[in-house]
Amino acid sequence: MDSWASSPSAEPDIFCPFLKIPCCSEQQKGDWGRRFGAMMEWEVVDLTSYLEGCGDDQINAMCATVSRTLRETGALVVKDPRCSVDDSDRFLDMMERYFQMSEEFKIQQERRHLHYQVGVTPAGVELPRIMMDKDMQEKIKNMPEEFRPTIPTQADPKWRYMWRIGQRPQITKFKEINAEPVIPEGFPEWKQIMDSWGEKMLSAVKVVAEMAAIGFGLPKDAFTSRMEMGSHLLGPTGSDLKCHGKKGTVFAGYHYDISFLTIHGRSRFPGLSIWLRNGQKVEVKVPLGCLLIQTGKEFEWLTGGECSAGMHEVVVSDRTLTAIKLANEQNHSLWRVSSTLFSHIASDAILKPLGHFADSSLANNYPPMAAGEFIEKELSEINLKG
Ligand SMILES: [Fe+2]
Repeated sequence: MDSWASSPSAEPDIFCPFLKIPCCSEQQKGDWGRRFGAMMEWEVVDLTSYLEGCGDDQINAMCATVSRTLRETGALVVKDPRCSVDDSDRFLDMMERYFQMSEEFKIQQERRHLHYQVGVTPAGVELPRIMMDKDMQEKIKNMPEEFRPTIPTQADPKWRYMWRIGQRPQITKFKEINAEPVIPEGFPEWKQIMDSWGEKMLSAVKVVAEMAAIGFGLPKDAFTSRMEMGSHLLGPTGSDLKCHGKKGTVFAGYHYDISFLTIHGRSRFPGLSIWLRNGQKVEVKVPLGCLLIQTGKEFEWLTGGECSAGMHEVVVSDRTLTAIKLANEQNHSLWRVSSTLFSHIASDAILKPLGHFADSSLANNYPPMAAGEFIEKELSEINLKG
């Protein structure tokens, strides 16, 4: 199984637009579409030299790349030597086994009264924002047809499991978000694998947050100090490609994440597309051993709208179909698991544009608000809080 899981052939390159982010002048940074067209290549930011403490010039150049890329694309591909392919495979194997269990079994881990912020969220609960948000619907009408998202007609058919990562505060105004974890019966390895993979991905996010702060000219800990005791959640999704493997099926409708930064390990089935700041839609392939980071709404808030939350969707594509065929041939699970971690600003910390971002022309759109209050408001809008 592992050979299939780690095989580059599971995500054939011929379908994969990568995004190459070169070192370029201010003038060159404007028009991504004109410069690179639809076939683009990701530059991978290897965190090793930063972690090992390379020279100031190299650190500053890397941090500038991180901040510029997050601003222009809302996404970043990184390689962290602490997050191995084996770690990722162990996690995906366990989650595939869990999502394959019967619905009756999985429902036992549902915690609706806690807004699904721990345990399982069944398929058909989470509503894609595009279905309710009239402003978003208007914006989509004005998009060029080739970049328009697939409009879902129903709630997302994906399952999700929420597992908190890291410590929570003893005293908080937002207790229900910071609820106790749920462990399914018959999975003795659950806690160890979830904690281990979640903490590794969180460590990677924290390094990126530090690098982004340096790149933006903020104090090094401008973001990470606010992430301490945050409601970080490992939230893998499970999508049943056996039942919902038809091209065009929307597993996660066009939306942004409400997190600070979201990080994903590499999924065994492609299907994720993101929108760059210039409006261009790009299907994502995460290279083997790498992690994808996306900006969430809390990041947008702290940067006064200069870095907007990255829009994205998960839809069955041609590349997904190729991977389904391969998995079928090798008798592999047809559950598409995303290993997603949502990092958050601490619930009691105040979200507001930091440093020079307070002078941004858009800063007035981001009034000071407790992060926990913001999250509760957003969750109620996407049907996860009654
Ligand atoms: Fe998302």
